[in-house]
Amino acid sequence: MSTTNKSKKLTSYGDRGFSQFIRQAFNRHLGYEPEDYQKPVIGICNTKSEINRCHAHIGPLIDAIKTGVLMAGGIPLEFPTISLGEINTSPTTMLYRNLAAMDTEEMIRAQPIDGVVLIGGCDKVTPSQLMGAASADIPSIIITGGPMNNGEYEGRTLGACSDCRFFWQEYRGGKVNDQEIDEINQALAPTAGHCMVMGSASTMAVCAEAMGMMLPGGAAIPATENKRLQHAIQTGKKIVELVEKDIRPSQIMTRNSLENAIRMLMAVGGSTNAVIHLVAIAGRLNIELPLDLFDELSKSTPFIANLRPAGKYQMEDFYRAGGAPVVMKELQSVLHLEEMTVTGKSVRENLESVKFSETYRDIIRTFEEPLHKEGGIAVLKGNLAPNGAVIKPKAASAELLNHKGRAVVFSSLQDLEERIDDPHLDINPEDIMVLQNAGPVGGPGMPEAGMLPIPQKLLKQGVRDMIRISDARMSGTAFGTVVLHTAPEAAVGGPIGLVRTGDLIELNVEKRSLTLHVDEQELENRKKDWKPVPIVGRGYTRLYQKHVLQADQGCDFDFLLGEEK
Ligand code: FES
Repeated sequence: MSTTNKSKKLTSYGDRGFSQFIRQAFNRHLGYEPEDYQKPVIGICNTKSEINRCHAHIGPLIDAIKTGVLMAGGIPLEFPTISLGEINTSPTTMLYRNLAAMDTEEMIRAQPIDGVVLIGGCDKVTPSQLMGAASADIPSIIITGGPMNNGEYEGRTLGACSDCRFFWQEYRGGKVNDQEIDEINQALAPTAGHCMVMGSASTMAVCAEAMGMMLPGGAAIPATENKRLQHAIQTGKKIVELVEKDIRPSQIMTRNSLENAIRMLMAVGGSTNAVIHLVAIAGRLNIELPLDLFDELSKSTPFIANLRPAGKYQMEDFYRAGGAPVVMKELQSVLHLEEMTVTGKSVRENLESVKFSETYRDIIRTFEEPLHKEGGIAVLKGNLAPNGAVIKPKAASAELLNHKGRAVVFSSLQDLEERIDDPHLDINPEDIMVLQNAGPVGGPGMPEAGMLPIPQKLLKQGVRDMIRISDARMSGTAFGTVVLHTAPEAAVGGPIGLVRTGDLIELNVEKRSLTLHVDEQELENRKKDWKPVPIVGRGYTRLYQKHVLQADQGCDFDFLLGEEK
């Protein structure tokens, strides 16, 4: 009797012969002959979902990947994993990133496949798939559904979801009326795809390219372009080659290639969320990426991609300008060029054929004449964030980057919601808003609440930015003078939980410092009254709260670090 070549991953019945026999019988359902399964079997791990619009359109791309696999002589078999979409997931997708990573890892490991193409779209999916692929470590390539095309309202280009936030703030401030906000709402997300600014989804896609896990140029191709179908077919062909050469994620996602991804993050002014995700991916491979490394690389990486929310253009424009390969070509003097990639070639070899048109020079600047000398993210330290915090200085107000102000504290998301628009709230534009208990454990799941709303009474006075500090995250599409990921978080006893309204806080981004001007003795006294946030959830949420690591450690579970023993 002929059997499949997947006898190493048999269902356990205590009888290998029977396991092979029953598998052969059941695997006839697709019409393949048993000997066909001797060819490379490629899983297409996908997060297709009608609930999550960023993934809703990926069916034709899955078909195209299958075509590519068949053309290269493999057998494509799609399988689903958890689908995460930012807008339709409560309380926040970050709570479920690790669950998605576990699902991805375990299904790759459990099923009889030789290689895998990972396809998703929205913010947390790409990192979760890379985490899972790193741990499962069979030949893998990642591809996304691609970004949306630009939106437009009254001649102005709209970007989801930087403009969701911008116009909502203007609406709250009384500058946009009911009819206008409804018209804007209709134009914000005009096509299939993920958010089309350099938010978290786009950032993780370009980082995947920079670390060699996606075919060059793939990140920026709009969801609606024919080129994305071609990219999918090429991905399908390439995974078969990777299986034949046995090139695995652990050979591609090295310390050096992760440094290349950090350079990319800094050069495109990418999402602060990527800091957490890259640390988590590295953790799966026993690689340490301390926050200080991000700061060090940021200081020596020019900010060259002029993309929202820190710049002017969007992903569709970035695609016309050549996308991530052009950024990498500009950065090549500071990249590790000998790293292996999913093309089967090194970064250096991939970059040899990259061309650039001067027509698009305002979108991707040169290394020598960047938008800014330094990268897009700064890491802060101080007695308010002993293990670090992050800020996007180029998406902030320059005049607030060195500022001392009075703290106005909100003890939780609920407290924030209840009091933010209270006309009697004692708050002034020069104050510093502090949100506690919105971190990994306290949130739980570290929601994207770090861009605290400006109180309505200040909005009506024309105030549009204030310093905001929290242990939460913010969307990669958000903006403002926002200090995030303060670690340790309040819920595990971090100093941010000891701040009281009226305390003085000092932010100095140039010095990379975040200081709470309260003397040690007073802080010690406050610590005596501190109580940990009770763990109240059930099931997965309970597991999450008990095992999640802090932001500076990537928010993975403590039991998922490192390789399989
Ligand atoms: Fe999915 Fe923005 S909501 S990428």
